[in-house]
Amino acid sequence: MTRARVVEPSPETIVEAVAILRRGGLVAFPTETVYGLGGDARERAAIDRIFIAKGRPADHPLIVHIASAALLEDWATDIPNAALRLADAFWPGPLTMILRRNAKVLDAVTGGQDTIGLRVPSHPVAQALLRAFGDGIAAPSANRFGHVSPTTAAHVLAELSDSVDLILDGGACEVGIESTIVDLSSRHPRILRPGHLGRDAVETVLGVGLDDDVGDAPRVSGALASHYAPRTPVRLLETSSLERLWREESKVRRIGVIALETRDDRGVDWRGLSADPTAYAKALYAQLRALDERKLDLILIELPPPTRVWEAVRDRLTRAAGRG
Ligand code: TXA
Ligand code: MG
Repeated sequence: MTRARVVEPSPETIVEAVAILRRGGLVAFPTETVYGLGGDARERAAIDRIFIAKGRPADHPLIVHIASAALLEDWATDIPNAALRLADAFWPGPLTMILRRNAKVLDAVTGGQDTIGLRVPSHPVAQALLRAFGDGIAAPSANRFGHVSPTTAAHVLAELSDSVDLILDGGACEVGIESTIVDLSSRHPRILRPGHLGRDAVETVLGVGLDDDVGDAPRVSGALASHYAPRTPVRLLETSSLERLWREESKVRRIGVIALETRDDRGVDWRGLSADPTAYAKALYAQLRALDERKLDLILIELPPPTRVWEAVRDRLTRAAGRG
């Protein structure tokens, strides 16, 4: 049964979306990173619905989205100065901060942890929705658990049509991969999930180097080895072996390729994204989904260079290949 309606964002549809949230329903909405599956973060029934819609284990916490940093204290406590500096520099934008939660926060949102993930998105539709709603919206990426995040309304509809009430169609997401998550809940700030907002930018504002060791990080679903994954098997390759493997494998199997560069003579199953990390990230999930739909035997992905500017993309590719 299809329940979801896809609508253009407008003052009227924002009012309708708020009414749905107020009665405990679910609204998918665009952010600058990926589409979120939103529910009232103060309403237990709405939170339960999100977990069921995603098929997500209950101990994986949700990010609460707020309209501005002025609302931080409604959710967090013991907020360190570093968090305020990061908020000042990067909110609204693709940054999620992990802070100590306050006593009013529902356990169901944080998976029982004493910390909470908070984010102020910059997308105008997300901002309009948050301002009209006036409180926090819990929103994981609007995909089934473990699958590729959606970057268009059509992606959301394809996966969650029977569990979401309304989808606000804001077009394709600008960033295309999930927000950078910085944990500020303990003495040493750490990046739990790299993103478009890079390590260098965060370090500059904090004035310290960040630990990259995520070994004892709190439970974060993005930290599972197999995540952001298409259904087709994925194999990552260095540039030097891509050409040879593509030639060998395509004799015996149906192969798709995601590479940095386009090759006109290779047909539809060779997708050249970009040699620029920002443009690459924006295109990545849509291309993974498109290749996944072609029911190939294998997707070969050329690994971009192991430099900081590619950190977030390499992280998502490693997880797509299930080898995180
Ligand atoms: O860009 C994004 O962050 C998107 C858009 C919709 O805002 N949201 C998103 O949500 O990616 P989700 O739920 O798919 O991923 C959020 C990640 C999860 O891996 C979750 O475990 C982690 O954030 N997280 C949330 N709260 C946490 C906490 N208190 N401690 C550690 N990790 C947390
Ligand atoms: Mg997700």
